[in-house]
Amino acid sequence: MEKKRIATLSFNDGTPPVELPILSGTLGPDVIDIRNLAKTGMFTYDPGYLSTASCNSGITYIDGEAGHLYYRGYPIEQLAEKASFLEVCHLLLYGDLPTQEKKDEFERKIKYRTMVHDQLMTFYKGFRRDAHPMAVMVGVVGALSAFYHDSLDINNPAHREISALRLIAKVPTIAAMCYRYNTGHPFMYPNNEFGYVENFLHMMFATPCEPYLANPKLVRALERIFILHADHEQNASTSTVRLAGSSGANPFACVAAGIAALWGPAHGGANEAVLKMLDEIGDISQIPKYVARAKDRSDPFRLMGFGHRVYKNMDPRAKVMRETCYEVLAELGLQNDKMFEMAMELERIALQDEYFIERKLYPNVDFYSGIVLRALKVPLNMFTVIFAIARTIGWISQWNEMISDSERRIGRPRQLYLGQQRRDYVPIAER
Ligand code: SDX
Repeated sequence: MEKKRIATLSFNDGTPPVELPILSGTLGPDVIDIRNLAKTGMFTYDPGYLSTASCNSGITYIDGEAGHLYYRGYPIEQLAEKASFLEVCHLLLYGDLPTQEKKDEFERKIKYRTMVHDQLMTFYKGFRRDAHPMAVMVGVVGALSAFYHDSLDINNPAHREISALRLIAKVPTIAAMCYRYNTGHPFMYPNNEFGYVENFLHMMFATPCEPYLANPKLVRALERIFILHADHEQNASTSTVRLAGSSGANPFACVAAGIAALWGPAHGGANEAVLKMLDEIGDISQIPKYVARAKDRSDPFRLMGFGHRVYKNMDPRAKVMRETCYEVLAELGLQNDKMFEMAMELERIALQDEYFIERKLYPNVDFYSGIVLRALKVPLNMFTVIFAIARTIGWISQWNEMISDSERRIGRPRQLYLGQQRRDYVPIAER
């Protein structure tokens, strides 16, 4: 019988030592189970959760040092090359790749839920036409909880599954409507003739006046982007969905909270920020100046699309995204795309620079995704919306895993209090 590993926390002030069990997962680093610590009356302190595992999960695994990413054990490179996005959705939600029969059934379940309640369209009219699409996404996806609130017992697995199917099916429709409202074009209804990704492009770019035909290579490129962005362990937005869900909140409201968290430029907003950064750099000749700024701690400028909390090697998704860049730009005859040339030169220079090498700062998934989206004629303000469409399956799969976990408790972190000591109220005349 393997000896149980214990970490003993000893104190130099006579406080009795505390024994903390060490837990091992299927893969990856061991964790120190600190639940016993509460009896010492002390807490751990870890702003940003640099050294904290918030939960156990069997969905996604990242080896940051080696640059590996597995969805339910399958390497992301293989899924990006061989799987469809709906196969990946089935894998993340149910735990395995579907048989042909299950795949056909799952696709049907999604296909016949892509329409939204007609009244949902009136929500868009409350926004200014130039509202950022992510602001509209937060509002409209959150509003789904008003349409389904009474048909949802989160402790009923069948209700959880229907909510997941509704979100996977409807988020692309809502996202395309954000774009159409922004441009003043009429909303396009989903068309059941098309596959999931092609349907999204149809709702984005078709007009009621003529048939729409998407380039299959571009459809596959966007599908690959969806696959690469589907899930990523306990990132900021997924942790937001889990924390909101731990209170028993409606999954639509939880996913709306995840969309809000994803919007930040340090997270899902980075793909939009990369293009803005490349635009600001303007020319390859200016790259050294901006690399110098990124290294200057007195300058808030950072190289967007570089660095990652977990990856201390190249993000495996960035490699696939770079290849997709080549394919899409070649297909569109944009081989000499200035942005792409700048991005590759920026990557080359940064990866040779001691500052980036020492801090293990490599390009992440957002570094190249924006260049592909721009080539697909997706407007800049829709880049993070594309990320949200993809990550919806990750959020709802992680939410479902948490809700079905018998150990589920409301998330309620503690704090290190640095405020005032107790003091009595002072009448205003004496202040
Ligand atoms: C995503 O969590 C996920 O999994 C996220 C994601 C997902 O799929 O969900 O992978 C998607 O969000 C990818 C990351 C996209 N964000 C960006 O590209 C924005 C630019 N990157 C940085 O903001 C930063 O690297 C983070 C936010 C990604 C990571 O921040 P950390 O882990 O808190 O690292 P840090 O800020 O403590 O940086 C460590 C050091 C610091 O320097 P020193 O204090 O040691 O001198 O590295 C420096 C930082 O200044 N640094 C950078 C840098 N990123 C970190 N310096 C210049 N440019 C950068 N991009």
